[in-house]
Parts: sequence; C-alpha cells; structure tokens
Amino acid sequence: MADRLFIFDTTLRDGEQVPGCQLNTVEKIQVAKQLELLGVDIIEAGFPISSPGDYNSVIEISKAVTWPTICALTRAVQKDIDVAVEALKYAKHKRIHTGIGTSDSHIKYKFNSNREEIIERAVAAVKYARKFVDDVEFYAEDAGRTDNEYLARVVEAVVKAGATVVNIPDTTGYCLSSEYGSKIKYLMEHVSGIEKVILSTHCHNDLGMATANTMAGVLNGARQVEVTINGIGERAGNTSLEEIAMIVKCHSGIGVETNINTQKIYPTSRMVSSLMNMPVQPNKAIVGRNAFAHSSGIHQDGVLKNVQTYEIIDPHDVGIDDNSIVLTARSGRAALKNRLQALGVELDQEKLDKVYESFLKLADKKKDINDDDVLVLAGADRTKNHRIKLDFLQVTSGVGVQSVASLGLNISGEKFEACASGNGPVDAAIKALKKIIDRHMTLKEFTIQAISKGSDDMGKVHMQVEYDGQVYYGFGANTDIIAASVEAYIDCINKFKQ
Ligand code: KIV
Ligand code: ZN
Repeated sequence: MADRLFIFDTTLRDGEQVPGCQLNTVEKIQVAKQLELLGVDIIEAGFPISSPGDYNSVIEISKAVTWPTICALTRAVQKDIDVAVEALKYAKHKRIHTGIGTSDSHIKYKFNSNREEIIERAVAAVKYARKFVDDVEFYAEDAGRTDNEYLARVVEAVVKAGATVVNIPDTTGYCLSSEYGSKIKYLMEHVSGIEKVILSTHCHNDLGMATANTMAGVLNGARQVEVTINGIGERAGNTSLEEIAMIVKCHSGIGVETNINTQKIYPTSRMVSSLMNMPVQPNKAIVGRNAFAHSSGIHQDGVLKNVQTYEIIDPHDVGIDDNSIVLTARSGRAALKNRLQALGVELDQEKLDKVYESFLKLADKKKDINDDDVLVLAGADRTKNHRIKLDFLQVTSGVGVQSVASLGLNISGEKFEACASGNGPVDAAIKALKKIIDRHMTLKEFTIQAISKGSDDMGKVHMQVEYDGQVYYGFGANTDIIAASVEAYIDCINKFKQ
C-alpha cells in the first residue's frame, strides 16, 4: 500500500510574501476554502506576531475551514508562540510551526550565538509550544546549508522535546537534488526516534530546483511537502503544489499518494493568480496556458490519433477543459476539421479544403487563431441557437450631424423595434438596443479588429458587458463594423443568466 504524502500548503504565508501580492483577510479566506476543496492536509495561514492582518487572518481562516489542520508560524520565541496559540483558538485541528536558523551563518550573523545555545533555544520553543498544542512542527531554517551531523543533533533534540513534524528547509534554494536527498536520508538513518515524526521538505526555487529537490526528499523518506499554488513565494518562489501532486500521481511506482483532488488544481491556480495579480508564465508545468497546447502539425496529428503519443497527463485530470490543439500556420487539415467538429460544424472535403486555404492565409498573418476566427472562416451561423437576434439595423451618421440608429430585434420569434440618437453610430445603435432590452448592463471593454486586410475586410468585435455583478464576453463579425458591434453586444446578452 502506498504511503500517505501530506501536503502542507504555505501559499498564504511563504507564498504571500511576494512584494505587491498581499491579500486581504476576505481574499485569504476565499483561498483557504479553495485549498480545503483541493484537499490539502495543512494550511499555513500566517505568522500571527508579524502583523495584526496576519493575526486576524489566522483567526478567520480557522473559523472558515473544517478539515485541514491550520498552522501558524512563530520564531523560537515565547511571545510569538503565545500569540500563535491565541490566533489558533478557533481551529478544529491546529499546529504551531516554530523554529530557528541552524546554519553556521545564521548562528553567527543572525543570532550572534553558538551551536549549543541554538539547540537549547530550539528545545525550549518546542517544549513551550507543546504545552498548548499536540501538533508542533519544528523548522531548522537554512537546513540546506547546515552541516548534516549538527542538523541530526538538532533534529534529535527537538524530537525528544516533543516535535511531531520536523521541517528541513532549503531556505536559500542552494542545494543540489542529490545533496538534499542525502540530507533527508542521513537524518532518517542517524536520528534516534525519527520513526516517531514526519520529516518535511521546504524547498525554495532560487536555482530552479525546488520541485526536483522536494522529490529527492520524498524519495529518501520525507512524508510531508511544503508547497505553494503556482510555486509562488518571494524571490524565485517555493515548490509548486501542482507539480508535486501530478508527479506522484503520474509515478505511482514511487509508492506515495496525496489527498489532492487534482481536478481542482487549475481552478485553484486561476484563483490565486487573479487574487494576487500574479500571472502564471505560459510554459509553467501543469497550469501554464501552454502546458497542454500542441502547436506543431506532427504533434497535433499524433494527439488526434491517440493523445498518449504526446501527452502524459489528461488535461481534464487537472481541471482543464480547453481544447489542447492550438491552431497555427503549422496545423494540418485534421486539426482544423477536429476544431470545427468540436464547434458543431461539419464540412464536406471540398468545403474543408477551401476553408483550410483561407485558414492558412489568415494563420500567416495572425499567430493565434481562435474559435471565432474559425467559425467566421467556415461561414457558420454562430447565432443559430441565440434567443435574441439582430433583425435589421439602419444608421445615419456623418460629420456635423448627430448619429441616429433604428434597430429591430427578434426575441424568441417576436419582433421589436427602437430608434435612438447617440454621439456616434455605435452609441446610437446600442442605445436603441437598450431601449428594447431594458436591463442595467454596462459596457466594460470594446475592441475592434480586422480579420485580414483591406477595406472590404470583415471586422471583428470583442466586448465585455457587466450585468448583475458578472462579466460576459461577446463576439461579432461583419463587414459592417457597427453591425459587428451590435452583434457582439447581443452575443453578451444571450449569455446572461436569466
Ligand atoms: O524558507 C524557510 O526557511 C521558511 C521557514 C520559516 C520555514 O520559510
Ligand atoms: Zn520558506
């Protein structure tokens, strides 16, 4: 039977230390609830003594979350522990995470101390924390650069003092994977009482090795990993949760399993990215925009024949529904046909050849061909199933005259007409439309693009309309740009939740 690998999420503590990405308490609660749905075992909710905001967040997250253990960080200082105990008072399952630097440079420059005194302080902090909670995790800060023999002495002392979990942070992201793995192995083999506790990894990504180092730790006996969503964290970040969860899922031979509901990975990633205003790099493993996007013709052909040719993870397993075939100038007919079928358009070979020809011309000019482009090229009626359709539109505008629009809509078979003036033709047309559809909606974004080039070209309009607290995206394409704008607006309205 596989061993359980505990997922300790520190997005809201170590992750949140990214400059400019701080969350308020309400946002932290939102993330914590999502982490609970994702299935993390421990949520590090903050460092309560560091600020009233962190203190408050630990309190509120403790109230909001049921299953995961809520953890609060402290230094090896009694006052810190007292404040953490107070902040954790509502947590159903609670843990104090206390610790001290153990590398020679931390001992000398940070604490102006010596190795023996550091062990005493570590032991005192663990014993003090154990008076209040049963679950105490000790961290040996900068363990990555701490000599293994001394580290083993520290770990043995805190285990005797009552620590339940011992965290071995590579605080500076310095270790090689072999080095970090050997460190965990050394502790597993040389610390008496190690079988009573869980060893935890906590790797930073300064040399891009956080995930590899964490896995080296797991392969050598660590059974808890400290991770963040999207690998966020100060400097180059922490180990990313999604990478570890998917590595152990893909490699069942390692013999560990997590409680992560992998289908919640992508929505969680999006939530953290947008709340923190921190975009995810497109090629980020598992959650990047391009993580499952096949763009070369050879790969697309292989994937369409059998996804296993070029895919080791089913995107649905991480909660991604999007089509993984990106249409570019290198795509073949098979990819275009597949996309059209997914959009509900079936073409015979002759028509497909024609559409493919114009697709290639467009793809030469435009890097990324989206679904709307494909539908326009195929001449498909995107509005076929729409409840509201544009019946007619007439606009008078010019220089020195006021724009006037009269417009007719067909709503579920019934006809409506209205007339309005505005400070331009689009404004007049939308005002007329709003006379018929009398709802409180606001235009948020409005972009016009030409599909290819030339004055006889199709114009494409993308719009965002806000209604009832939600934003809806609409699209219109027409040789008449005013009509395309009205179509895009109607497209948004057709998507409104009634
Ligand atoms: O990187 C680190 O050493 C830490 C500890 C405070 C756990 O974040
Ligand atoms: Zn850290």
